Amino acid sequence: MKRVGLLTSGGDCQGLNPAIRGVAKALYDTFGKDVLIFGIKDGYRGLIDGEYELLKKSAFSGILTMGGTILGTSRQPFKQMKVIGEDGVDKVKAMKKTYDEIGLDCLVILGGNGTHKTANLLSEEGLNIVTLPKTIDNDLWGTDITFGFYSALDVATEVIDRLHTTATSHGRIFVVEIMGHKAGWLNLYAGLAGGADIILIPEIPYSIDKITEVIDKRTRDGKLFSIVAVAEGAISLEESKMSKKEFKAARAAMTHSSIAYRVADDIAKVTGHDVRVTVPGHIQRGGSPSAYDRVLSTMFGTKAAELIRDEKYGYMVGMKNNEVVPVPLSEVAGKLKCVPEDSQVILSAKSIGISFGN
Ligand code: F6P
Repeated sequence: MKRVGLLTSGGDCQGLNPAIRGVAKALYDTFGKDVLIFGIKDGYRGLIDGEYELLKKSAFSGILTMGGTILGTSRQPFKQMKVIGEDGVDKVKAMKKTYDEIGLDCLVILGGNGTHKTANLLSEEGLNIVTLPKTIDNDLWGTDITFGFYSALDVATEVIDRLHTTATSHGRIFVVEIMGHKAGWLNLYAGLAGGADIILIPEIPYSIDKITEVIDKRTRDGKLFSIVAVAEGAISLEESKMSKKEFKAARAAMTHSSIAYRVADDIAKVTGHDVRVTVPGHIQRGGSPSAYDRVLSTMFGTKAAELIRDEKYGYMVGMKNNEVVPVPLSEVAGKLKCVPEDSQVILSAKSIGISFGN
């Protein structure tokens, strides 16, 4: 009898449920009645606290089109994993205890960057781990694409599309803030797909002078509106020269509630234009997975089941050059996949006149 655990960790995204369904259906297909699947509640929190349940086969039906995760999720910072808190709990020991208590042959972990650091730690501790890459940020090392990204992209693009019509009618500048703290994939793709005029991503520090130059030129050319797509993690040129400590202090002193408001304020001050801000926030992560993500999650999930069948542990399932492949967890953990400045998507955006504010 195979005993397999499933756990979703970190921020949720579209595609988690189809991935869970893919793992489960392929496991039932492979092992028939000789497999038991356990759902760990709310990510690593459930593994630490020993909260889990044996799931019936029916739990995996009807979830293909559902957003979120049927297992629940939570953020458990990797930095804290080895730290004994005030409650005196040794979290790593507790997670291993739950794993042993259920008698797992393998734990399938679905998550992003932080999740993968802990997954790798558990693998190093001797647990049989297989992971799946989820995040709307698409910033996970070792895979060309993560599920959740294209669904969030559809939402973010629609937001920019809708802003376009109102911006045009009023001749206004709109600053829209798209999710992505460390990497700008989502904002870059949404900005390009939505026809933004200026795209600001963390990888390319911006200068307000450059941004206002672009807006002024558009005004002179008779284009009275502009769309500025700002990634949550966008930074100015001045900030890019700061040490980590200085940057933290500068951001702590920032009076604006987020970067989009600061950029909007700066543009308004220099240009005298009417500037509005839109922050779609978690809407980008909500709702039904796109058709692409349903397919991708299913392929990733079924590949995980194949690795379990072959007892090939310590791997993330990833997509490389259009092939679904196992990638060693040790290669993935702790690395970020940022947008290369010379990537084709940046070059294409530049060659159609999109500014990166630099
Ligand atoms: O990791 C996905 C993500 O949506 C990021 O784009 C965003 O910066 C962050 O999560 C938001 O985190 P939370 O859901 O904890 O507010």
